[in-house]
Amino acid sequence: MESMGIFDGDTVSIKGKRGKKTIATVSQISASDVTALASKTTGGALEECHSIGLSKDAMRNAGVRSGDAVTVVPAPDVKFGKTILILPYQDSLESAGVETADEGNVFEDYVRPYFEGKFRTLHRGDSFHITGPLGELEFQCVEIDTVEQDGDDACVVVDDTLIECDGEGIDRDDELDDLANAGYDTIGGATKHLAAVRELVELPLRHPELWGRLGINPPRGVLLTGPSGCGKTAMARAVAAETGAYFFVINGPEVISKRAGESETNLRRAFEDAEANAADYNGAIIFIDEIDSIAPKREKAGGEVEKRIVSQLLTLMDGLKPTSKVVVIGATNRPTVIESALRRPGRFDRELDMGVPDMEGRLEILQIKTRDMRLGKDVDLEHLAQGSHGYVGADLQQLCMEAALECIRSKIGLIDFDKDKVDKKILDSIVVDASHFEHAMGVVHPSSLRENQVRVIIFS
Ligand SMILES: Nc1ncnc2c1ncn2[C@@H]1O[C@H](COP(=O)(O)OP(=O)(O)OP(=O)(O)O)[C@@H](O)[C@H]1O
Ligand SMILES: [Mg+2]
Repeated sequence: MESMGIFDGDTVSIKGKRGKKTIATVSQISASDVTALASKTTGGALEECHSIGLSKDAMRNAGVRSGDAVTVVPAPDVKFGKTILILPYQDSLESAGVETADEGNVFEDYVRPYFEGKFRTLHRGDSFHITGPLGELEFQCVEIDTVEQDGDDACVVVDDTLIECDGEGIDRDDELDDLANAGYDTIGGATKHLAAVRELVELPLRHPELWGRLGINPPRGVLLTGPSGCGKTAMARAVAAETGAYFFVINGPEVISKRAGESETNLRRAFEDAEANAADYNGAIIFIDEIDSIAPKREKAGGEVEKRIVSQLLTLMDGLKPTSKVVVIGATNRPTVIESALRRPGRFDRELDMGVPDMEGRLEILQIKTRDMRLGKDVDLEHLAQGSHGYVGADLQQLCMEAALECIRSKIGLIDFDKDKVDKKILDSIVVDASHFEHAMGVVHPSSLRENQVRVIIFS
């Protein structure tokens, strides 16, 4: 810290991913906490990197997760706030059982005590949680006017700052949250695959010059294979979210048009669009889902359209410039039926078989899927993982959903259908326990073993 000229109590600007920024106050931690913090970050990168601790809210505001890298710069000229506008999220108000901020006395109970005498730093667009009499509420900082500038980016909230809190609760920007929630930590049981993806997709996007030095072309295409529901689509979305790359999705069946030439034009546009946007983002990813439907083996392809699409795709992939930061990811659960020329070097030369997760993988997926679920003490995820041989990610997700549904079903007698809202007491009593999971195991079957199922008829 000293080498950067930062000391306790200083204001710093933290730059995370996808151009997200937040602002924070530095607080030096004791030596014993350093080891605790270090054990949470991954790998041996610690020797060269310094680690910092961030609150959950700050991590979200910077768009990062545990183990990610951030850039920290001193921000000595952040001004005192003159007026700031803080609004609660509407859904957060509703779950606390009130309609408006006024009704919940939100300013007096939440906002004022949170800021009073604390000299907190705020960045425009930051979200944060405050706990109060109605439970936890989430707020967003909507506007900042500082003593020097109206419409500033950041400020320090002092006792003279006028805090406005009236207005309607804000709705969440769903789309943003959608990709933000699709990081690597939403994919379980794929440590090896994630490492491979990092090498095959992230590196060429970030540093194509590495390959240039060696005189070879960076990898262009990665083919994700594996049974249905093993997380191929989820993986591609995670890569896009993590790299912050421009993400263009082509759904195989959607490109095909019967009008002559239109399918090829669609494909060509996708590639042009990606190349044009690659510079503005951290590169671009073209994701072709269900690639088997547009690129079947040419000799087997029934229609002229398919044949032309395959040829067009080959030409487009060959035409990508070595310096362009574009990577194509294809996903299929039938790798054997796609045109073999597509799997040649320079095209989809890397294949990544996602496969059916093993016991540890299943445990990881179960942990991820139950992260936001209130689980009873008797739920043993390890036991569930052991008993779910052959289940892929999608099956495990359904397992958790069935267990949750069964839990709701068990409470249905208590719910008053005439009321607008369910009583808080009932909401608080909803806990998914082992019996619900037992029921779910009875209804959800492993899809990867479905093809091998036989029906046994007993003659008596
Ligand atoms: N390894 C995993 N970790 C976490 N969630 C997973 C995993 N695998 C699958 N899922 C979940 O299962 C669901 C289906 O996954 P996804 O759509 O990625 O499957 P897919 O491999 O693309 O299947 P298909 O071949 O049928 O398109 C998603 O909601 C995803 O969140
Ligand atoms: Mg898919």
